[in-house]
Amino acid sequence: MIQRPIAYIAGLGVSIPERIVTNADFEKTLDTSDQWIVERTGIRERRFARPDETVSTMGKDAAVKALCRAGTTASELDGIIVATATPDSPLPSTACQIQALLGAERAATFDIAAACSGFVYGLTIAEGLIATGQGERILVVGGEKLTSITDSLDRSTAILFGDGAGAAVVQRASGGDRGILSAFIRSDGRLKLLLHIPGGGTVDPISEKVVRERSHYMKMAGREVFKHAVTEMAEACDVALTRAGITGEQLDLLVPHQANIRIIEATAKHAGLPMSKVMVNVDRYGNTSSASIPLALAQAEEEGRLKPGMLVMLVAFGAGFTWGSAVIRW
Ligand code: ACO
Repeated sequence: MIQRPIAYIAGLGVSIPERIVTNADFEKTLDTSDQWIVERTGIRERRFARPDETVSTMGKDAAVKALCRAGTTASELDGIIVATATPDSPLPSTACQIQALLGAERAATFDIAAACSGFVYGLTIAEGLIATGQGERILVVGGEKLTSITDSLDRSTAILFGDGAGAAVVQRASGGDRGILSAFIRSDGRLKLLLHIPGGGTVDPISEKVVRERSHYMKMAGREVFKHAVTEMAEACDVALTRAGITGEQLDLLVPHQANIRIIEATAKHAGLPMSKVMVNVDRYGNTSSASIPLALAQAEEEGRLKPGMLVMLVAFGAGFTWGSAVIRW
């Protein structure tokens, strides 16, 4: 068994589109209300990217800030992992595009598809690459332009999602106890139909029919996804805590995937944490999928809620289904 910590997050950065879309904006186009959205989800507003903003441009901006905070440069990166469900294009990877924008000529780059759990998956893979000597410094980006796969006419999904990107520089730990203390990732592909995009892939390539039927947009069985999210995030909390050899009460901060305030509250309750120890920004950004945890982490750090030496747990759940968690000594 390899001794942890092997790696730590040396710097975070975010890129958040300027355009704010409020619940009141949806009241103009959909049969919905601010009251319903706030009560059922906790979301008050979210950000929509401009047409010329993509995961690579937002990811690059977030990466520049993360590199600066880590006190390093793009040329020092050994790898770039981009977690996204909304790549700029199917080929090449968005990670390659961010590499070119950054000028990270030494880095090996690839995308991962783990939906909302993508950042936790990326962190785990980065730690593994460092553990096996593939590199010293890996950039992990969680970025989404979810507005490109969300059906603006479907009130059950349109109100949930937003755009943005977060980035973390993951570096080899240099002694001491700072870094990733445990990590856990899992998935269950049998449940794919509860949250998926039926059209526009290789099974049913983009066509007039796909566009007419709007099958290139996300379809979600919200209530079922909700139940699985609560159950699987609870399991993920238990495993990460056990592997780190700590209890929930010892945590200083929980940073859960920001999908729904009710899921966040259930997860905090399971982990035995008061909401005062839980990072919440779903009200401001909605569900930004793989960007949600780095956005929340960066905000927590900026607000002074995440200080060196603190114990923080990340926990995520998303399409696939996928789920995962990590305990980090900050
Ligand atoms: N405004 C008003 N009414 C609505 C809206 C809306 N925007 N959306 C749905 N409703 C209605 C439904 O039609 C339904 O009406 P009915 O009772 O007449 O049939 C009623 O509200 C209740 O619908 P539910 O779907 O049962 O509502 P629920 O309380 O479950 O909330 C929600 C829906 C918010 C989607 C919730 O189920 C949820 O958050 N699910 C989890 C989403 C999630 O966690 N995703 C994470 C992964 S995302 C990823 O990986 C990209």
